[in-house]
Amino acid sequence: MGNFKVKDHYFNKAKDENFFARSVYKLEEIDAKYKVLKAGMQVVDFGYHPGSWIQYTSQVIGEKGLVVGIDIRELNKKLSGVQNVRVYEKDIFDIHDLTQLGVEKPFDVVLSDMAPNTTGIKSLDQDRSLSLVESVFGLLPRFLSPGGNFVIKVFDSQHAQNYLKEQKNIFSEFHYLKPKSTRSVSKEFFVIGKNFKA
Ligand SMILES: C[S@@+](CC[C@H](N)C(=O)[O-])C[C@H]1O[C@@H](n2cnc3c(N)ncnc32)[C@H](O)[C@@H]1O
Repeated sequence: MGNFKVKDHYFNKAKDENFFARSVYKLEEIDAKYKVLKAGMQVVDFGYHPGSWIQYTSQVIGEKGLVVGIDIRELNKKLSGVQNVRVYEKDIFDIHDLTQLGVEKPFDVVLSDMAPNTTGIKSLDQDRSLSLVESVFGLLPRFLSPGGNFVIKVFDSQHAQNYLKEQKNIFSEFHYLKPKSTRSVSKEFFVIGKNFKA
């Protein structure tokens, strides 16, 4: 019962505030707490669709910033007219090079809210989620500037915990957060990395 109330509250709030999804409140909370985004930054958002994180980021980075989103889903055309936003229909597993995202220098911030289509088979869903997480970590040396910030959604599992432990030293700060707007039954949490040590 509590979960449905939470869902309704954030769902309605997103609708009232013209955000495409309730997910925006997760990024908002993360950013308020860890100061991930700033005006003028160049940001990439993996798994952006429908685009509430892009809407939020676009406001914070302002007209001198740029946010690039990719998703396997069809482009959300409502984002195509926005001055500091670029979106692509692409699979993270096909991304290897910055030029595929139309930029030359590495990003100041890498965001990922990617989630696989769930099958209901727990171990399979956990494996698929971890593959997405690994693919993003694999891109960091080329895609994230030294000193850059990082936010990624992770589905909890023993393998995920072990993997994260191996990665934590590539950032000066490495935090775990379960945002208030996340349904309490959900196994997802977010990892926030600050100050990337390239
Ligand atoms: C929870 S949604 C993102 C919501 C978004 N942050 C927002 O605020 O609107 C997760 C997205 O990850 C995308 N995704 C899943 N696997 C992907 C992949 N291999 N490559 C790119 N995007 C992927 C899904 O298509 C889905 O749109």
